Parts: sequence; structure tokens; C-alpha cells
Amino acid sequence: MLCSDGEKKLSFCRSIKDGDLVIVYEKRDVMKAVKVCEASVLQNRFGVFKHSDWIGKPFGSKVLSNKGGFVYLLAPTPELWTLVLSHRTQILYIADISFLITYLEIVPGSLVLESGTGSGSLTTSLARAVAPTGHVYTFDFHQQRAASAREDFQSTGVGSLVTVGVRDIQGEGFPDEYSGLADSVFLDLPQPWLAILSAGKMLKQDGTLCSFSPCIEQVQRTCEALKSNFRGKSIVLLSEPLWLCTYKKRV
Ligand SMILES: C[S@@+](CC[C@H](N)C(=O)[O-])C[C@H]1O[C@@H](n2cnc3c(N)ncnc32)[C@H](O)[C@@H]1O
Repeated sequence: MLCSDGEKKLSFCRSIKDGDLVIVYEKRDVMKAVKVCEASVLQNRFGVFKHSDWIGKPFGSKVLSNKGGFVYLLAPTPELWTLVLSHRTQILYIADISFLITYLEIVPGSLVLESGTGSGSLTTSLARAVAPTGHVYTFDFHQQRAASAREDFQSTGVGSLVTVGVRDIQGEGFPDEYSGLADSVFLDLPQPWLAILSAGKMLKQDGTLCSFSPCIEQVQRTCEALKSNFRGKSIVLLSEPLWLCTYKKRV
């Protein structure tokens, strides 16, 4: 959520308002995202909870039902969001996300390019990592998926840190306007090798590129594309674990 001073920094140090998204926590494996609406109620096995009772309470509050049952109202942080979001695609989870943010060397102020957006699981964490002054430009060729991701980023409070574009990145590459400007590029695509040349062009000097693939054959082809396009030129291989190619550009 935006801080009241307008900084693009994620902060939940405030009270719950009408229209906010909250994570309703029953127990570790029973959580769901609920949009607060003053006239609505939440009904579960613990009873009926009036949303109007939630408004004005700090995130993290324990709230009671008509029967004395309780739930906690948690802030939609990226790690909780990843557990409750609607899966429109396969998604990345926190263990891999943490690894990627470290490998991509993402810090506040970074400009990050990503494709595909998918369900926006990774994007939400990328946005928090670049806040308050950086930006994530994420692309998916699936129009409806991109639109849903855009809505989710608004709801979870990272909308001002993310721009979602509809584009076939394997076919067209990233837009030329980002050429040489990206601190980090991340690919989670079925045929990432098709986007490698463009991704390399987008990187700043010392920028970092990661490509994530579930199959070793995809990783091999991606590494081959990196080697044949950039060997001896501007990009050096940092590491090659089973599912991830990571390269760093040194001009
Ligand atoms: C596995 S999902 C990405 C999941 C995402 N990393 C997450 O954590 O939610 C892969 C996405 O790539 C998109 N995609 C596939 N081919 C594409 C292409 N040529 N250009 C852009 N996006 C593409 C798909 O529509 C899909 O949404």
C-alpha cells in the first residue's frame, strides 16, 4: 500500500480501510484474500464476521464473529499473496523468488524487465524489492492474463511500481525503448532461448539476466543461446544450476 506521503514504498503501518484487500487467516494452511466492503460479511465455520467491524483496525488484528470465533486480518504482503492468489498459470514460490532476487541483484531503484507475467506471483515480490524508486516492466502475450495481473497489482498495493505490457516476447523481443536500461531481466517462458538476444540487449553494463525453466532441456537450450550469442563479447556465465541460467553483462 502507498504510504500517506506518496512514496512508492510498500507499507502496511496503517489501519484497514473500506476497499482494502486483506488476507483472512484462519490457520497456516487456511487463508484467503478478501476485499473489504463495509456492507459485506464473511461467513465461515467460526460464524459471521461483519466487514464494518474490520474498518479502522490495524493490519494484523484479531477480529471476532457473531459466535465469538476469530480470524486474523493480515496485510497482503508478497509472501502471503503468493499463497492465496488465483493460479492462472504455474507460479514461482517464495523459495525460488528469494533465490532469484538475490541472483538478479535487485535493490531499491532497480529497473527490471520480466516475461511472462503469468499470475504475477514473482512480479509482486520484484515490485517490493525495487520500491520506492525502481520499476518493474512485465510482459505477457496473453491479454486477459495481463489484465488480471494489472488488477491484482492495484489491489495488493504495488500498482505504481509495475507496468504490464501485452507482447510476444519470444517473437518480438522486449521493446527497444528499454535497450541498455535494465538492471535485471528475468525470463519464465516456454522457449526462453528465443528471447535471449533481446534480453541481453536490454541490460545495462553489469546488468544481470536470469532464465527459469522447469526442464533441463530448456535450460540447456537457453545456455546454448547465451553462449552462441554472447560468448567472448559482453556476457559472462555466473552459474548454471539445473533450472536456472544466470548471466552477468560486462561490457
Ligand atoms: C509459467 S507462467 C509465468 C509465471 C510467473 N513467473 C509467476 O510467478 O506467476 C508463463 C507465462 O508466460 C507467458 N508466455 C508464454 N509465451 C509467451 C511469449 N511468447 N511472450 C510473452 N509471454 C509469454 C504465458 O502466457 C504465461 O502467462
